[in-house]
Formats: sequence, C-alpha cells, structure tokens
Amino acid sequence: MNSDKVFYITTPIYYVNDIPHIGHAYTTTACDTAARYKRMKGYDVHFLTGTDEHGQKIQTAAEAQGISPQQLVDKIHLNFKNLWEVLNISNDDFIRTTEPRHIKAVQEIFKKLIEQGDIYKGTYSGYYCVPCETYVPENAMGPNKTCPDCGRPLTVMEEESYFFKASKYVPELIKFYEEHVRAVMPKIRYNEIMSFLKGGVKDQSVSRTSLKWGIPVPGDEKHVIYVWFDALINYMTAAGYIDNPEKFSHLWHHVRHMVGKDIIRFHCVIWPLMLIALGINLPVEVIAHGWWTYNGEKMSKSKGNVVDPFKIVKEYGLDPFRYFMLREVPFGNDGDFSELALVGRINSDLANDLGNLLNRTLQMIKSYREGVVPSCAESESELRSMAENVLERVDEAMNNFAFDEALKSIWEFIGRANKFIDETTPWKLAKDETQAEKLNFVLLNLYEALRFSALLIAPTMPDTAKKILAQLGLDENEKLLYENFKWGEGAGKIINKAEVLFPRIDINEWKKSQEEKKKMEETKTEAPALEHEAEISIDDFKTVEMRVAKIINVEEIPRSKKLYKLEVDLGYEKRTVCSGIKAFFTPEDLTGKNIILVTNLKPVKLCGVESNGMILCASVKKDGVSEQLTLLTPEKDIPLGSRVS
Ligand code: MSP
Repeated sequence: MNSDKVFYITTPIYYVNDIPHIGHAYTTTACDTAARYKRMKGYDVHFLTGTDEHGQKIQTAAEAQGISPQQLVDKIHLNFKNLWEVLNISNDDFIRTTEPRHIKAVQEIFKKLIEQGDIYKGTYSGYYCVPCETYVPENAMGPNKTCPDCGRPLTVMEEESYFFKASKYVPELIKFYEEHVRAVMPKIRYNEIMSFLKGGVKDQSVSRTSLKWGIPVPGDEKHVIYVWFDALINYMTAAGYIDNPEKFSHLWHHVRHMVGKDIIRFHCVIWPLMLIALGINLPVEVIAHGWWTYNGEKMSKSKGNVVDPFKIVKEYGLDPFRYFMLREVPFGNDGDFSELALVGRINSDLANDLGNLLNRTLQMIKSYREGVVPSCAESESELRSMAENVLERVDEAMNNFAFDEALKSIWEFIGRANKFIDETTPWKLAKDETQAEKLNFVLLNLYEALRFSALLIAPTMPDTAKKILAQLGLDENEKLLYENFKWGEGAGKIINKAEVLFPRIDINEWKKSQEEKKKMEETKTEAPALEHEAEISIDDFKTVEMRVAKIINVEEIPRSKKLYKLEVDLGYEKRTVCSGIKAFFTPEDLTGKNIILVTNLKPVKLCGVESNGMILCASVKKDGVSEQLTLLTPEKDIPLGSRVS
C-alpha cells in the first residue's frame, strides 16, 4: 500500500450520558462520508468513533440508579452504537475509554510525562458546586457565581493536583501552525486558535482527588486523571500506540480529527501540546464544524427540542437525512434543522432532480431499446466533459471537507442531464428511423450520467447509490472505485425495473399531519413514560428472588447526596442495602417499614459501601430522573422473609 494513501479520520468520542442528537449524527455522518469517499479513491482508511465514559456525571447518575458506573456505561454507550448502525456508519473501530487498552495507554503516557518532568504536582483551585460534586469553569458560571446546573452558590475549593506543563511548548506549536495553515480548518478557527495561543496558555490541571470515576494516576491512586486528558488519548490508543506500534506508525502520520467548534481548544491547543511533549507528530488537519439549532433555537433537553435522529430516519428515510445534513449548511457554519426544509430537499433535489432523471431514463431505454443500453460511435459529449469536470470539483471540495460544495456540483450535473433530455427530445427522435444513432447517443449518455451520479453520491447516500446501480442492471455490491470508472462502458447492459427512489411528499397533507401531531402533543396529559422491556418467560421471572423485609436502620452516606445506607431484616438474616431514595424520605419515614427486597442481586459497591439487594419502588421519571417515588409494601402483615411471586 502506498504510504501516502492512508486516511485516518476520527470523530470526537461522545459523552455517554447525553441522548444522541443531530449534532452527534452530523459529525459522524460527515466523517463517514469522508471515509467512504477516500475508500473509493483507493485509500487505506481507518475510521474511528467511540464514547467518553468517565467523569462526575456518570458517577452521580449511576449512584442515583443504584448501579455501578461501569454497569451504567455498559448499558448507555449502546445508544451511540445503535445510532451508528441506523445511520449506516462504516467505522472501522469503536473505542470506549473504559476499555483496558485505553486505560493502559493513558497511564503509560501519564507516567512518561511525569518521568520527563512535563507533569508535576501542585494545587488546583476553582469554583466548586458541592451538591453536584463538580468544578464549574468561570465562563460557565451562572449569575452571582452559581452552578449552571442546580443554581446553588459555588464555593472556592482547593485540592492537590497534577499539572501538565502546557506553557513550555506553546512557541513550538505557534511555529507549527505558522508553517501548516491547513492544520486547523476552516480559516476562521485557525485564526481563533492562533490568537488564543499568542495570548499564552497556562499549565493545565490534569488530575482530581474529588472524583472517583476515572483512570487512576499510576502510583498515586487517590488521584484520577482529568477526563479530557484521558479522552484525547483515545485517538492514539485506537491507532495502536501501546499494543501495535507498526499500525501506529502506519496511521499516525495521516490522522485527522473532525470536531465541533466548541471543542477546538482541546483539540488544537491542549492536544497538540501533549503530542509535542510526547515527541509525536501533530494531526494533519483538525476540521471544525458549526452547531445545529432546531427551528432557530438552541437545542436543549430541558426545552425538549432536541432533534432525534432515530425519529427523523424513521419518518423520512436514512439517505434523505444524510443528504440534508451535508447539503444544507456550508461546512464550518452553523445550521438550522427544520422538517419543512428537509421535506423541501426531498421533493426538489431527491424526488424531482435525481429520482426523475432515473425514472425517465430507464423508461426510455425500456420503450425505445427494449431495456438494453445502446452503444454509439460518438464518444465525446457535453455531459461527459461536464462529468469529468465535476469529478475534479468534487475532489477539491471533499479534500476541503466542503460536503455542501461537492453535493452542489453533483446536483448541477444532475440538473444538466435533466435539461439534456428536454433539449434532445428523445420522444421525437424515437419516431424517426433516421435519428436512431442520435437516439442511441442520447440514451447512452443519460445512462452514463446516472451511473456516474451513483458513484458520486455513494459516499453521502450509500443505499441510494446501490439502488440506482441495481436499477441500471449493475452489480450493486461491487466495490466502487473511482479509478475503475470509464465513460461509455455501460453499452450493452440490461436495465432492471424502474422503481421510485424517493416518493414525493404531498406538502399540504404533510402540513396537515404536522398540525395534528402538534395538537396531540399539546393535549397530551402527563402520563408516565412507557419504556417496555423485552418479553420474558415465567421461568425468567422466577430467577428474581424477592422477599419481604423490614427496614431497621437508616444512615446517611457522607459522600453521596442520593443514597441511604439501610439495614434490613429478612427474618433469617440482616443485610446492608444502598438505595437512591434519599430525596424522597427522611430516615424516620423509612425506619420500621416493611418492604420488598430483591435478594439475589450481585453485590455492588456504591460510594464505598457494599450493597446486597435492591428495594422495590414505583416511580415516575423524567429524563431518567425520578420525580415521584413510592415504596412497595405488603398489604397485610406477613412473616419477614416471605417469598414474593
Ligand atoms: N466527550 C467530548 C469530546 C472528547 S473528544 C476527545 C465531548 N462530547 S460531546 O458528546 O459533548 O460532544 C461531541 C460532539 O458533538 C462535539 O464535537 C460537539 O461539537 C458536537 N455537538 C454537540 N451538540 C451539537 C450541536 N447542537 N450541533 C452540532 N454539533 C454539536 O465534547
């Protein structure tokens, strides 16, 4: 493999506690499109995505659910994995920061930097929210130094911390950027980073003693490594930094990171400074995209206006969604998602332009040439030269990650092909025997234009490209490579039945159904959210052992704001159980109550206390958090230890 033809592209690794939304879908689809394009150009592509699984938020959420942080992330990282399946993402690897390969890489890098004196011990001081157990950066504080999450006043806290000597390598980084103007894209972000760097960078705190859910500092385990230091290293872990040096040296010189504009300081300042300290070359390009809003508003969980990619794909189809995201906004700019705009693109660009070109062409080949693509003597044509020109324009755009420009050029070509039909009027040529060669020329050119369009749209709309190829009578599973494409080779192919690629959406009907949906949502009463589990058999159910028990003692756990440590009596034995119900009861409410206990749950350590069972409660949850909660108690007196079935 030519060592220049390697393309290693990464998405940011996503925080697992977030619900996947269009912002996440966008970065990953953009990387996927770039990766697919490079594969078609014959590159050796390595496409990485994954999840960022450490940090205070995970620790707190796990406590609230009465499970360990590892159990929680094992469950919720699947939200992202599932989305990538639904979006037809062709990643070659999926990294989780809780995997042993990553923990090993982070600890080795940390150790190396301590040994060479680039990480040292000092004192970290910052604004801390005690109830949320988290530091709040000054630029994220609420009014009067309050916590942006819970609104309570912040306190200044100090703790021992390790620091990374970021300041030492700043001049070297500035010099690198002066010599590599494409290292941060687009230009506006490059300028932003340069002026930030010129203002100086402080040494960075890279460990915490106040947090438990993280990678321990090797040799000083009361510290865990700061999440961003841990997270950035994922790109090296997955390239084989520790376990496959050969793979690492093959990939690393070609690494490119795609990120949202909000995290460029981490990727274009902190990360390269870490790499310089490690003596490792810097990423070829960091490409920053803009932010999505929904109908003009910032998306937020609390407003309930988060664009759910699962829902959009279900309603409008996968490829229209992929096309829309990449076509709608000039890459690098912010963009607004609206379903109306999506419907507009489906009707005009997809159904009208592309769908019609396919349909009309196939119908004509069927009617005028019995479904066989004709050959013709004339090999030059306007469509052919335009196709060759589009190929160059698309290549340039793709190398600049200007997906919208690439698609615009492709659609100019599709538009030209449609116009070619109107200009050459094949239905008239078909009536005149003397025009047979001219008709062959027209039909072959249209067929080639479609074959070519399928190739060009394949990185953005892989399924649609396959469908077009199948209708054109070609092997849709054949590996598509640009260099194998030769204009004119379609002659002699036998086409298949024409099928509608994108049904037109009747805009009046659609508007009506949107109105109805809105009304239904407005009148919907606040019913408990229904999340159903998969069906189980009675035997499955019987494996859960539940018994009546009495709460005999209730204690607070100093390190936890959600958990109580309960002592329960089962009649035949006493046990300790941790339960995340502190927000709903005082110790007096609970002491003496008979409850139902799941007795055969694997013990788990929560905030340093081993919990041996789970108390049954009914609750109403919003965004995964209980808003109402009640204990399940036996309706009559019954001996402690009685089995529940
Ligand atoms: N875990 C860190 C990244 C660590 S990378 C070593 C993180 N995760 S995130 O889940 O919060 O964000 C991941 C990406 O999603 C970021 O690139 C961010 O810009 C992007 N988006 C989050 N909301 C977005 C929009 N509304 N629009 C577009 N992208 C946005 O940061």
